[in-house]
Amino acid sequence: MQDLEWWKRAVVYEVYPRSFQDSNGDGIGDLPGILSRLDYLVELGVDAVWIAPIYPSPMADFGYDIADYCGIDALFGTMADFDRLLEAAHRRGLRLILDFVPNHTSDQHPWFLESRSSRDNSKRDWYIWRDKPNNWASNFGGSGWEFDATTGQYYYHSFLKEQPDLNWRNPAVVDAMFDVLRFWLRKGVDGFRVDVMWLMIKDDEFRDNPPNPGFRPGSPSNHRFLPVYNSNRPEVHAIVTAMRGVVDEFSDRVLIGEIYLPIPQLMTYYGKDLQGANLPFNFQLLQCPWSAAAIADVMGEYYRALPEGAWPNWVLGNHDQPRIASRIGKLQARVAAMLLFTLPGTLTMYYGEEIGMTNVPIAPEQVQDPAEKNEPGIGQGRDPERTPMCWDHSPVAGFTMGVPWLPVGEDHSRVNVAVEQQDSASMLRLYRKLIALRKVHPTLISGDLHAIQVEQNVLRFRRSGAEEIEVILNLTHEQVTVPIPRGTVLAETHVDREGEVVAGRAVLRGAEGLVLLMA
Ligand code: GLC
Repeated sequence: MQDLEWWKRAVVYEVYPRSFQDSNGDGIGDLPGILSRLDYLVELGVDAVWIAPIYPSPMADFGYDIADYCGIDALFGTMADFDRLLEAAHRRGLRLILDFVPNHTSDQHPWFLESRSSRDNSKRDWYIWRDKPNNWASNFGGSGWEFDATTGQYYYHSFLKEQPDLNWRNPAVVDAMFDVLRFWLRKGVDGFRVDVMWLMIKDDEFRDNPPNPGFRPGSPSNHRFLPVYNSNRPEVHAIVTAMRGVVDEFSDRVLIGEIYLPIPQLMTYYGKDLQGANLPFNFQLLQCPWSAAAIADVMGEYYRALPEGAWPNWVLGNHDQPRIASRIGKLQARVAAMLLFTLPGTLTMYYGEEIGMTNVPIAPEQVQDPAEKNEPGIGQGRDPERTPMCWDHSPVAGFTMGVPWLPVGEDHSRVNVAVEQQDSASMLRLYRKLIALRKVHPTLISGDLHAIQVEQNVLRFRRSGAEEIEVILNLTHEQVTVPIPRGTVLAETHVDREGEVVAGRAVLRGAEGLVLLMA
């Protein structure tokens, strides 16, 4: 097991920095705040922390609009704070992964300010300028093209007009962006999560996208067309491979790609001879209906499609998706955790999942997310899953001394770290238990996965390596009885049956999951 690279054994914890811990009372989380919570993360048992963007930014898309790739936004602290955080993380054996946003900059980035200043500026071709727009849409609503009166042309933006897309066909852009990677790699960061990897390059003929026959009125406007020519273009793979080459100039680093594509296309991002992303994020569990049959299908399809030697990974939530405990309910969220931590590969969790945080309702006047502001009321908003981490039962949950940028959940007097630490059956204690289990039983990390079975909405599968481990997950809310030869309970979602021996049959309460060490 020690032979596996660290990231193959890892549980990665995503921190949304605005919402994790505020240290200076401005209501927005920051780097010293994260530093003050590293011991909590060590105790939780995670191996790596991925921090969403912390670079100087006008915050039109909360840091995904970057004005300087090699700095730290004053809201989050200073470069000295960052260096301290990195050092403190490493001292505790935690790896640090940064967010790399290659597809677009802020419209306030000096590169874009130059680019838009005149048609013959040397950085003109660093962005995508055209005389006429085509039908490519912005992912945040409306056209992807913005007219710029200074030079009488349109520039393309996959997201907000404040986020102009870089032109990755220009070698100078490639060089500049790869130097950004090297800047952070030299500092010692352990890898990158690459934002919208599958969007990085677009059709060079700017062909119109075909209409989407499945479009229904009321859906987000960018669903009107199929993104054939502005996403997942064949040329993207050469960029990903080159990016991986840069990361591999340094030892022991990882390249993770954000990619929302169906499984067959997703797999191509491992690259020819696995020279692409180490981990193209597998978002299947974010989208799949919560039924044993659907999950079994996804598991089967995913592992069958995995290229030889490619390392799997799974995710239950992130800063763009409704929280799992809201999507499937608090009880089933425990079952989901057990599923996640018994699957082979690298696992990524989202802050707050471990205490069972749910989406927080956001009143219209509290909305922050531009995705919601641009297309209100159709479920595009991501504020509900970005609310402050709940550390204790104080009025703002121990997140800030000031006024939080988004409201804290009303249930935070019960759903918080301090309370759950004291309760042996809490979600937090379950998470700790499950994460620790992977260390004690590495068969869970790298053992074979087989015997996936579904009956009456109960999902079972076997993990085989040095040990035989059976996982049984009851996705119903009724008691079920399943036949089982003989096994000892290693972990259990209600946290009250550990060590119990089951033989012949196992009785599972509603929404109960069991991990059994087979005799
Ligand atoms: C990614 C990020 C998302 C952001 C978008 C534009 O999807 O995860 O939060 O809004 O890219 O950068």
